[in-house]
Amino acid sequence: MKILMVCLGNICRSPLAEGILLTKGKHLNLEVDSAGTAAYHIGKQPDIRSIEIANKYTIDLNQKRARQFSRADFDKFDIIYAMDTNNYTHLISLASSETERNKIRMILNEINPNTHQSVPDPYYGGKNGFQDVYNMLNKACEKIIKNIE
Ligand code: 4NP
Repeated sequence: MKILMVCLGNICRSPLAEGILLTKGKHLNLEVDSAGTAAYHIGKQPDIRSIEIANKYTIDLNQKRARQFSRADFDKFDIIYAMDTNNYTHLISLASSETERNKIRMILNEINPNTHQSVPDPYYGGKNGFQDVYNMLNKACEKIIKNIE
């Protein structure tokens, strides 16, 4: 199973989602990656606040470098999780077939089905935002793992 996590900048939410799923789903042989819909932060390490919250749960994000989503990702991945409704809409606009569209999901729908809730963008907020984001993504990733097991 190949899973891609997508947010806007690929430095806050999606690297965290990638790290959580990889670490907690180690036994499942998953291929997990993350990308941003925007190009602003290509090549950069995750935001220090994401690195720190990940460290708190012994998840290492130090090797991650931001990249932009590309249409080739529709072929490479089985499931593409959007962190928020903007990312979702953007991904849908890039998809060119029903097969591609069917791969795109809202990550929080895993825990709150059909509600299309967004993981809030923590970039301009304080540290608490990152703890909240971690808690949401952790729950969603645990559900993803349970569904695959
Ligand atoms: P992310 O957060 O999409 O979770 O990586 C953001 C990172 C950077 C910006 C916005 C959101 N930005 O505007 O630069």
